Amino acid sequence: MIQYLTHPIFIVVKEAAITLNQEVYVVGGFVRDCMLGRESKDIDFVTLGSGIDLAKEVANRLEDATEVNYFKNFGTAHIRQQNWDFEFVGARKESYREDSRKPLVESGSLSDDQNRRDFTINAMAISLNESDYGSLVDPFNGVEDLNNGILRTPLDPDVTFSDDPLRMMRAVRFASQLDFTIEEKTYNGICTMASRLSIISQERITDELNKIIASKRPSVGFKLMFDTKLLHEFFDEMIALQGVEMRNGLSHKDNFYHTLQVLDNVAEISDNLWLRWAAIMHDIAKPNTKDFNDKEGWTFHGHEFVGSKMVKHIFRRLKLPLNERMRYVSKLVLLHLRPIALTKDIVTDSAIRRLIFDAGEDMDDLMKLCKSDITSKNERKVQRFKQNLKIVEQKIRDVEDRDRVRNFQPTVTGEEIMEIFKIKPSKEVGIIKNALKDAVLDGEIKNNREEAINFVLKKGNELGLTKP
Ligand code: CTP
Repeated sequence: MIQYLTHPIFIVVKEAAITLNQEVYVVGGFVRDCMLGRESKDIDFVTLGSGIDLAKEVANRLEDATEVNYFKNFGTAHIRQQNWDFEFVGARKESYREDSRKPLVESGSLSDDQNRRDFTINAMAISLNESDYGSLVDPFNGVEDLNNGILRTPLDPDVTFSDDPLRMMRAVRFASQLDFTIEEKTYNGICTMASRLSIISQERITDELNKIIASKRPSVGFKLMFDTKLLHEFFDEMIALQGVEMRNGLSHKDNFYHTLQVLDNVAEISDNLWLRWAAIMHDIAKPNTKDFNDKEGWTFHGHEFVGSKMVKHIFRRLKLPLNERMRYVSKLVLLHLRPIALTKDIVTDSAIRRLIFDAGEDMDDLMKLCKSDITSKNERKVQRFKQNLKIVEQKIRDVEDRDRVRNFQPTVTGEEIMEIFKIKPSKEVGIIKNALKDAVLDGEIKNNREEAINFVLKKGNELGLTKP
């Protein structure tokens, strides 16, 4: 395994450990990622003795590292050097949990430490000791599991998952990220223990959830979370999407699997996490707005509006940011039907301008979401919709080239309106401003200053205002 020990830190750690007369090993994710050929800039060291003492000894030997940050209660220490992170921990008998509320510092052997890690592929260690520098210590055959793409707990799953229930989410996350399979006993353990996720903070759950969403094919992770019932622990609104109802021989599509298909489609064309969230949320209000009538069959009227309102509530609960990212997701949910609506035969420039105005900077992302939303099994239908969207895209480009409304700001501001008529802030200013915006978007006037000023004067006159 010596080929993985190319970073100069390994020799420094080895020598520091000799000075302290402590054994030390590289362990966990770094070993796994090296073997998988994935880049990793986090290195975990486990030592038989004090992790904090070793970190201090290492830091003394480094010129450009940060100070040692340590948590005495947990016996962990951290050093950052350039863009590398080094974690030091003393081997322990109990589970590896940095954020556990109860301190657990009973020291143990290397094998005690490996026993209490989450998966066999994360429990491999490489020795940095003089006698066997570079040799692999792999008590659970992690290499074989890694080669076969298997996630398996080192101990009985009940034990490993009781130690830290978040590991169930980690299993799904690794399965989705690495395209691995969860071994049967481990999988059954998750099904039995899914409800224990309730003791885990939402921040930690959402952290794993976002890693699942950021993976290449997020549907893999979502299906696993759904089947094991992990998803039921924190995302009722998504669970409600699942299922098909039939009435008078008419059924609607299963919106859960449809949503996952849209999410995968988006993931294929964009790495933007928030666009992926928009895919997850785009039909979230369908269960709440579902209705049936003989004329139309199944309807979900207003689901885009109701859904856009649900975004904030869900983001708050899931501890996702309540800032411009949330507003972006909410906006895309609200607008997700608009481009398709523009595929009708007769579409006015005005409708196109209004969409460009409403979507603003996010027009391109909206089109990506809209394209991804076409999931019919009928290939001819898919092709027809895609073709129609292309036509809409072309129309959007034409209108934009001509009118530049994407970041449209009326050329006359509210302050200027007050100045022109020498009036104070009032209802009239708002009315004129809105009328001006509508006139430009509807193509009544061009978006230039001269036409805008004339329009403002005319509108003011209609409201009984005169230029002094
Ligand atoms: N670990 C664990 N149980 C957890 C979290 C971590 O047993 N709930 C152990 C695993 O051995 C893991 C190591 O701690 O490999 C480091 O954890 P972390 O840095 O969180 O994850 P990585 O496995 O390195 O993966 P990633 O960097 O992708 O999060």
